[in-house]
This record gives sequence, C-alpha cells and structure tokens, in this order.
Amino acid sequence: MIGLGTWKSPEEEAYNAVTYALDAGYRHIDGAAIYRNEAAVGRALRDSRIAREEVFVTTKLWGTQARNPQEALEQSLARLGLDYVDLYLMHWPVALKMDLVTDGNVLTIPTKLNGERDIDPDWDFVETWKLMQDLLKTGKVKAIGVSNFSISNLEKLFCSDGVTVVPAANQIEIHPQLPQTELVDYCVKKGIVVQAYSPLGSSSSIMLDDPEVEKIAQKYDAEPAQILINWGVSRGYCVLPKSVSQKRIVSNFKIFQLAEEDIEKLNGIPARLGSRRYVVPDWGSFPTFE
Ligand code: A2P
Repeated sequence: MIGLGTWKSPEEEAYNAVTYALDAGYRHIDGAAIYRNEAAVGRALRDSRIAREEVFVTTKLWGTQARNPQEALEQSLARLGLDYVDLYLMHWPVALKMDLVTDGNVLTIPTKLNGERDIDPDWDFVETWKLMQDLLKTGKVKAIGVSNFSISNLEKLFCSDGVTVVPAANQIEIHPQLPQTELVDYCVKKGIVVQAYSPLGSSSSIMLDDPEVEKIAQKYDAEPAQILINWGVSRGYCVLPKSVSQKRIVSNFKIFQLAEEDIEKLNGIPARLGSRRYVVPDWGSFPTFE
C-alpha cells in the first residue's frame, strides 16, 4: 500500500532513501527513467541483499522513447542492474521529439526554440501501448501500466484495435486537494490498480501546514504527512510518498486507521483550501487531464 517515491531525489540521496526505506520495511520502490537516478535506486536494491522477488520495483518509459519501449526498458534495466521490473508504466500519454536534442540524451525534456515542449504529434500513445504489450512476452516486465491517464485517454485505449491488455495500474496525482474520485472509481471498475503520486502535494504543498490537518495529526500523535498518507490508504489504493529524509521515510510508512469524522474533514479540504493540481507540466494542446 505504501511505496517510496523517488522523483526529485538526486542520485546519492536516492541511494540513501531506498536504503532507509528497505530498512524501514518498505517493499515497493517507485522510479522512472526521467528521474535520472535509476542507477542509484538499483544499487541500493542490490546492496540491501533483500531477495529480488520480495521487492516491487516500478520504472517508467519517458516520452522521447515512446516509439521504442523495448530499447528504453533494456536501458532502464541496465541502469537499475535488474533482470526485470515488476511494473513498467508509460509515464505520460505524450510522445516527445528528439530532433532538437543536440547531445542525443533521451532522458531530457526536449524544448522548441520558443521554449515549448517539443511534442511529437505524429505518434499516438495507443501505438506505444501496443509495443508495451509485446514486452510482457520478454519476461522483463511482470506487468505494464500507465501514468497520468485521464478517463478519456483510457477510454480511447480501450476502444482501439490491437489493444489486448488492460493497464495493470494508473499512477496519478492524488491527495485531499485533488481526490480524483471519478477517475479512481473508473479505474477500480476496470480492474486497474490506482497508485497515488505526490500524496503530500509535492514540494509546495499547503496541506502540510494546514491548521485543520495539524489538529487531526495531534489527535493521533502523528504528523500531518502521515494523516495525508493514511487518508489515501483509507480510500483503498496505493500511496507513494517521496522523501530523502530517514526520519520521514520511517514515519511515512506507518499505517493507522483514521476515524470516519477525520476522513470527512479531509474530504472537505477542497472546499476550504481549494482544489489544486501540483504537478502540471505544460503539454501544450495535448489533452492530458480533463
Ligand atoms: P524530503 O524529501 O526532504 O522529505 P510528495 O510525496 O507529495 O511528492 O511530497 C514530497 C515532498 O514532501 C518532498 O519535498 C519531501 O521532502 C516532503 N516530505 C516527505 N515526507 C514528509 C513528511 N513526513 N513531512 C513533511 N514533508 C515531507
């Protein structure tokens, strides 16, 4: 239910974070090629000496490699130093062009001269998904899924010829300011596991300092972050808090039962603090979120 997020964890800190997490009992590590720390994550996994099959490891396909997930996966596995990942996700439903990337590094966010992201309009995420389906046969992924997919993009996937595999998971931003109830319910109905990223509201969260959340935390002798994480756990999906601090990694892992009245108070956060999506990359006119 609780996995370690590694977005924004620099290489060396990511090594320590994964080590702290595995020591604290985490058995689920969430990564991505574009986080540029797969080598450190993989080193920490190997150095832990925990049997490979005991840890659930996710990585993600970056948009510059949308046309070649097989090659991207091989490269991720080489950086991780693993034979397989448990879950391979399409990071965004958006393909990116490499035409203007002068150093050839695919783990980048290509931009046009006017500063906009260099989106590849000629490549559809359905094609990426069909290529990802073939990866299942290689044994190098136990499951494939998506990330940042809206209901309409999932619907488009399901309606497309050649799509035979339902995504195992959809990893999306979820926290009390962005409960995503309709999308969560849709995924559950389709048998797609929901994974919540940025469950604390990422690095500029206003929820962690909210007096109401602090008051609930006091009641459980807990920290605001633990309240936000357990709000997600109580809704029945997997939650992926990121931290590089050992103390926080340990405390973020604690599951406890929130009283219904406190869950209701947390459900009331959008009315009080406003709804907010914290992770909003500019994908131009590409339809990511409704
Ligand atoms: P740090 O890595 O220094 O601990 P999210 O998981 O929503 O993306 O949030 C990650 C952000 O929240 C990071 O800035 C992380 O900083 C911070 N964070 C993680 N755990 C806690 C915690 N228990 N209390 C406060 N902030 C936290």
